[in-house]
Amino acid sequence: MGHIGDRMTEETASEKMEEEEIVIDVDEPEPTIEDLPGVGPATAEKLREAGFEDLLAIAVMSPPELSEQAELGEAVSAKIIAGAKKLANIGGFVSGAALLDKRKRVKKLTSGASSLDELLGGGFETQSIVEVFGEFGSGKTQIGHQLAVNSLLSESQGGLDGEIVYIDTEDTFRPERIAQMAEAVGIDPEEALDRIHVARAYNSAHQILLVDEIKRMAKNIDVKLIIVDSLTSHFRAEYIGRGMLATRQQKLNRHMKELKQVADVQNAIVLVTNQVMSKPDAMWGDPTRAIGGHIVAHASTFRLYLRKSKGGRRIARLIDSPNLPEGEAVFTVTSEGLRD
Ligand code: GTP
Ligand code: MG
Repeated sequence: MGHIGDRMTEETASEKMEEEEIVIDVDEPEPTIEDLPGVGPATAEKLREAGFEDLLAIAVMSPPELSEQAELGEAVSAKIIAGAKKLANIGGFVSGAALLDKRKRVKKLTSGASSLDELLGGGFETQSIVEVFGEFGSGKTQIGHQLAVNSLLSESQGGLDGEIVYIDTEDTFRPERIAQMAEAVGIDPEEALDRIHVARAYNSAHQILLVDEIKRMAKNIDVKLIIVDSLTSHFRAEYIGRGMLATRQQKLNRHMKELKQVADVQNAIVLVTNQVMSKPDAMWGDPTRAIGGHIVAHASTFRLYLRKSKGGRRIARLIDSPNLPEGEAVFTVTSEGLRD
């Protein structure tokens, strides 16, 4: 997680932007290639077809290079590159004080199991992406359901008092289960279901588009938790074979960046689930690996590896956290939900 590429959010940064006559509201979505001077739909399509999705990718090109690769005139290319340099926020340094201020807004959500909360330093943090990965039946979807219910609780009860968006890619969202868990924490099941907005994503393109829809929804409701269950299943099914790997990873990377942006703007949690694929040739360590590899791992702020244990217990292991020690927590999934 580097901050250098982050959006400029503090005073000196916005002063610098004004100097260049481009003012970016931090609540606005990140600029896209459509925001470049002289770029209409046709040019945008040419750029995309040539693989230029990112402003930064354009900003580092020379006019002849861009002209050749995107089949545009050189003068137009020069203008586009100049625009991209302004918009792409190259070297957007942010003061430590501004970052501390942003960190102060972080809220923590209880999972219902104190061991798991402790492992995470007091609960699931807003402004973060939490990747929960593990084999089938390890409890990923159950964690999603439980966090959805707990987010409805007031902050004094360990909740976020917000609304929830649930992107369901495997058709495993169960309203009955939500009702059961809600009742167990004293929330009216109907009210709970009213505040949890579920969308079934039919393929990866649809899944990506749903993030835009979340941004729109967030203008009217206070989205505090976004669940993508599962993050990778469509990508895995659609992009098969080595030749597709780079494209798949690029799309996943972009998807996660957009999710992270919503998490930051909304001061919300993004929970993504991920399966593990078995890697029988592994010589040491765990013989399973999360799908999406480094891209997903790197884009996630916290990673929890779940595994099944004796007597219906589950073990969660915290992996590569920025500021917490690695460790494990044991919890159970009961009819009431996640418990110690
Ligand atoms: P995949 O999506 O298949 O990869 O698995 P997952 O990791 O999402 O597993 P999931 O969260 O669906 O966990 C399923 C397990 O949760 C079941 O095997 C049960 O042990 C437990 N579980 C699910 N619902 C209930 C319930 O209503 N009561 C109880 N006691 N346990 C439940
Ligand atoms: Mg599941």
